[in-house]
Amino acid sequence: MTRILGIESSCDECSAAIVEADANSDCPRLVHQIILSQVDLHEAYGGVVPEIACRSHVESMTRVIEQCLQEANLTRQDIGAIAVANHPGLIGALLMGVTTAKALAWAWEIPLIAVDHLEAHLEAVALGGEAVAPPFLGVILSGGHTDLYHVKESGERELIGHTEDDAVGEAFDKAAKAMGLSYPGGPAIEKAALKGDPKAVELPRNMLKKDSLNFSFSGVKTAVLYKWRGQNAKNQGPIEGAPSVEDLAASFQEAVSDVLVKKIRRALQQTGLKRVVLGGGVTANKYIREQLTTRLSTQVEKIVFPAFSFSTDNGAMIAARGLQSFREGNFADFHLDAKPSR
Ligand code: KG4
Ligand code: ZN
Repeated sequence: MTRILGIESSCDECSAAIVEADANSDCPRLVHQIILSQVDLHEAYGGVVPEIACRSHVESMTRVIEQCLQEANLTRQDIGAIAVANHPGLIGALLMGVTTAKALAWAWEIPLIAVDHLEAHLEAVALGGEAVAPPFLGVILSGGHTDLYHVKESGERELIGHTEDDAVGEAFDKAAKAMGLSYPGGPAIEKAALKGDPKAVELPRNMLKKDSLNFSFSGVKTAVLYKWRGQNAKNQGPIEGAPSVEDLAASFQEAVSDVLVKKIRRALQQTGLKRVVLGGGVTANKYIREQLTTRLSTQVEKIVFPAFSFSTDNGAMIAARGLQSFREGNFADFHLDAKPSR
């Protein structure tokens, strides 16, 4: 039995998780996980403040790891390796995880594994027992990225599409802020949209050039701002004649889903791929899941989402991706550094 401790600190979640697998099982099993969200610290600012995120990780990291081991009824002797997200993310926040992981790997005399946070988002489906073998189209829908990857049979990933401005989750957060909804904006918009009409408000769908697999969400975000606060966006509250927050939220979700469906369809046509694996915080959105599943059903053999609990940032997906590297013998040394970019 191999047990991996995964550490995630790339943004505003401080998480430690233990996954285990025996040599015959494809999919890892979650033993235990702690996720300490910093939402209450950043809420007042309407977005993540890097310095606050970093300071909070300093305070909570060792406590979160200790608590995870304790509640799992395990000791350090039960852990075979430590996996840590070392990119991409906020540099200060990432450094907290990387430094802690290095110190523990040295003290416990076990291997250290570097994990790409985005690869981990795609690996999250394995925690639900759905290990999808490449080739497939990997789709990251998160607060920092909107990426399309052609994941080749060899496991090599080619970035074939990305956002040219706001990431999809970022657009949710900014559109929510424009309408005076709470932070994080994704869940707030999803909740408001439940009572709204997705066809009520006309919003732009920027598809960019004819063959482009890139995204642009800044236009739809700004359109929400103008519909709510007027063209000069001077008003704090809604202008007279503004649509209801419910209708605007539902129409925003509809516009975003529409773009995602069309871009994924385009990517499937261009690559000839038939399977889609998704990951990232925005995959927690039920409406988007439904739209993608139903509207892409004729083009795909398989479309797989992570379990809701593994959609947003979590240590379990880091440990799950780490398990793969462990099996491949792909370890990091103590020169491991954090880096903000992909
Ligand atoms: O993957 P994630 O936890 O962090 C990054 O790697 O960026 O994604 C966070 C993003 C935030 O922008 C948040 O608003 C969005 O995911 N999100 C959602 C939902 N839950 C979280 N967006 C839409 N609907 C949701 N239910
Ligand atoms: Zn993430």
